[in-house]
Amino acid sequence: DMGGHDTYMHKEIHEQAEAVDRVLRGRIDDRFSTVRLGGLNLDAREARQIRRVKILGCGTSYHAGMIGAQMIEELARIPADAEPASEFRYRNAVVDPDTLYVAVSQSGETYDVLAAVQELKRKGARVLGVVNVVGSAIAREADGGMYVHAGPEVCVVSTKCFTNTTVAFALLALHLGRTRDLSVSDGKRIIEGLRRLPGQIAEILEQEEEIRKLALQYAEARSMLFIGRVRGYPVAREASLKLKEVSYIHAEAYPASELKHGPLALIEPALPTVAIVPDDELLEKNRAALEEIKARSGPIMAVAHREQEKADHTIVVPKNENELDPILMGIPLQLLAYHTALALGRDIDKPRNLAKSVTVE
Ligand code: M6R
Repeated sequence: DMGGHDTYMHKEIHEQAEAVDRVLRGRIDDRFSTVRLGGLNLDAREARQIRRVKILGCGTSYHAGMIGAQMIEELARIPADAEPASEFRYRNAVVDPDTLYVAVSQSGETYDVLAAVQELKRKGARVLGVVNVVGSAIAREADGGMYVHAGPEVCVVSTKCFTNTTVAFALLALHLGRTRDLSVSDGKRIIEGLRRLPGQIAEILEQEEEIRKLALQYAEARSMLFIGRVRGYPVAREASLKLKEVSYIHAEAYPASELKHGPLALIEPALPTVAIVPDDELLEKNRAALEEIKARSGPIMAVAHREQEKADHTIVVPKNENELDPILMGIPLQLLAYHTALALGRDIDKPRNLAKSVTVE
């Protein structure tokens, strides 16, 4: 049942405020400015002994993991990174007993992720699952974990599960942070930020008509470049994947900081750039990148917390805490991908060559 929407993708994009509300529900502990995550099966002593966090997932779940790794590193000050599970499996990675491994999967059935979990478990590692589908293979195989409670996602292209997974990682980062050295006041600040998310998501979705018009303007592009820096980079990666999957337009994501090391050669009027420009420590750096692109007549669409002069169009999103901004900044670009695909007459819920869960090698 699509509840009045023309596709599941559209329906699921619009369910995000509600979905985020669900992943937060019952987990916030105001007394200690932290969150309670009973299913982790990780006591405080164990949480303090973690020396590294390694997050494994595929596709969109990998991108959510990239955001999660940054949050864990920022809030808990534990070295963390994300890697495609499909790559990790084949490189005989060193399995370290002081590392917490986190497997991320919407379906909980992705074979590459499951196989990575099984290999890790066989070698005695501790593995948590961040999963949407309750009782799925990865959820059962893991030592503990969190459900992201996004509700069923039918469209092959993941939207609400991505958002909820990033929120779940914010909770994990806050929990690990407050078990270690994150202050009470920072804990409070993050909790307040988390509580603002559903309302801010609703505000972003209200801009759909404006985003639809932008999509019509850019739908003719043969290729698009997505850029972002640090917190904005995984957002650019995910937005680029969304656009390719659903519209079949070629898209490439690059760290804005790397432009001058190569991709600047591509900039010309026929290559639009979508830039993620949060109002954080890197704002001036990002502005300089926009200038470089503008100087070469590249069209620019910015997703930012305020109007960007160098951009031809800015989609203004509400500001949250710096650490939580990545949760919100990709949402308008889900709508951009959707409306581009609609304009091009694509099979939105079932893009060619793709399956909802990849349960084979
Ligand atoms: O079910 P999973 O989260 O493990 O799926 C992982 C990827 O196959 C999935 O995210 C894929 O990239 C989607 N088509 C993204 O829209």
